[in-house]
Amino acid sequence: AKLKMFVDDLPDMPRIPAFDLVNGYPKSKSLKIGMFDKRWKFHRDLPRTPVFAFGTSKLAATVPGPTIEALQGVETYVTWQNLLPRMHILPWDPTIPTAVSPDRKGVPTVVHLHGNIGKPQSDGHSTSWFTAGFKEKGPTWTNATYRYFNNQQPGNLWYHDHALGLTRVNLLAGLIGAYIVRDPAVEGPLGLPHGNEFDRPLVVTDRSFYTNGYIYMNRTGDNPTIHPQWQPEYFGDVIVVNGKAWPRLTVQRRKYRFRIINASNARFYKFFFSNGLRFIHVGADSAYIGAPVLTNETLLAPSEIADVVVDFSESMTDTAILQNDAPYPFPSGDSVNEFNGKVMKFIIEKNQTADPSWVPDSLIQYPSPDSSSASHTRYIALYEYTSSTDDPTHLLINGLKYEDPVTEIPKVGTSEVWYVINLTEDNHPVHIHLGLFVVLDQTELVNEDEFKNCMLKMNNAVKCQVSKYARGNKTEVPAHERGWKNVYKMLPGYVTKILVRFAYIHSNQSYTFDATAEPGYVYHCHILDHEDNVMMRPLKLVK
Ligand code: C2O
Ligand code: CU
Repeated sequence: AKLKMFVDDLPDMPRIPAFDLVNGYPKSKSLKIGMFDKRWKFHRDLPRTPVFAFGTSKLAATVPGPTIEALQGVETYVTWQNLLPRMHILPWDPTIPTAVSPDRKGVPTVVHLHGNIGKPQSDGHSTSWFTAGFKEKGPTWTNATYRYFNNQQPGNLWYHDHALGLTRVNLLAGLIGAYIVRDPAVEGPLGLPHGNEFDRPLVVTDRSFYTNGYIYMNRTGDNPTIHPQWQPEYFGDVIVVNGKAWPRLTVQRRKYRFRIINASNARFYKFFFSNGLRFIHVGADSAYIGAPVLTNETLLAPSEIADVVVDFSESMTDTAILQNDAPYPFPSGDSVNEFNGKVMKFIIEKNQTADPSWVPDSLIQYPSPDSSSASHTRYIALYEYTSSTDDPTHLLINGLKYEDPVTEIPKVGTSEVWYVINLTEDNHPVHIHLGLFVVLDQTELVNEDEFKNCMLKMNNAVKCQVSKYARGNKTEVPAHERGWKNVYKMLPGYVTKILVRFAYIHSNQSYTFDATAEPGYVYHCHILDHEDNVMMRPLKLVK
């Protein structure tokens, strides 16, 4: 059945302030947010779909969950409660490293606040999962209430499940939501569009549905004798924004700010407007950029966030379709079709409206990275893991399993240069917890096969003389992505050089908390099917 596009209005998810106001003064706040099983209406003509949803109650729970709005410098405590049933609503695969509750009754979950600069015990580590009522807990579980300092630069975060081996199915089921850190003193003077109507998160996902409304997730793997269910990438044909399939939004002829979060499992989007409207980028991921950048299209990998202003007063037409033309898998896969090539529709009112907002020439400046100050250089190689007993589509980082001893052990307060070497055909969005990084350059490998053969034998980029091979074409980092990021697209056949900082970017101060505590952090590919099997490695900090 073909669903009609643009018949549902774009929802704005419930907004939850993450602070209290006491006599006009902001005070820290404690929240209880549950994960519930319920049904969600993704489209006018689709029966209600069983989902897992975040909310302050089952009735209030939504897909995506509520938008949590924090204030810079004011702490928030969140008790994430698992109220899920005994069985998962989607198929999963016990043959990949997976959080499994011992009696297999209960859905393991753990919530990671993506982009958060906080202590390990509140980071939502993959093995810190828990089932309903904290009945069963993963080996690194420490506490039920997470403490978020909100002590970082203002910007966009998102929260989502991070349970080992279940992340792809738990997010597909609906465990996603937006989280914004605001700093009115710094952001107010910028003059950007604000208020719930003109400043909106757009959480973009792709799903396929059965005609009965249920979410489609493959039940059989590509290589079922090895992995009965796991497949290397999930793609859906229905594009869902804020929980509605191809929604529509009526807008005034003025500027709007959209915080576009790609919460899809594996799909990249190259967004553009059918009528040529442009994106004015003001931030990327969890940080502002130094000055606005104007683009006609914007490529967003899974988990990346584009913070953009769109000025509908410039529209020559009364409607604009937000479209996508990124191939899937990216970049070498199929071209988009009539379904996944469309995202949502904007209906633009005829008359110009007053617009008190503006876009300033300069935004927020953070110190530029200085690679000479880097205290350590690391090589992070992405390639297929080859063994007769494993799935050839299974990818690893540095040839190591997730359980292998930690190899990335940076010092708190330092910066490091990481060379991420992508020897696969896919573009992998690599995300580092805690750290923020700047992409310094992307250089193509020459004689990649020769280098790869060496890596398969020696698994050592220095011994395989990576610098001898990393001397091909350089690809420019787009202007709007030259600021501080927490995830970036690692081009296939390229070495991407990044400078990652394990300290705040907005002050000279190091972390105000102990980042060296157990269980530490992780870094991984944010294609969820890759992350689950197992393009993920531990990351531990030391003093
Ligand atoms: Cu968005 Cu490790 O996660
Ligand atoms: Cu990947």
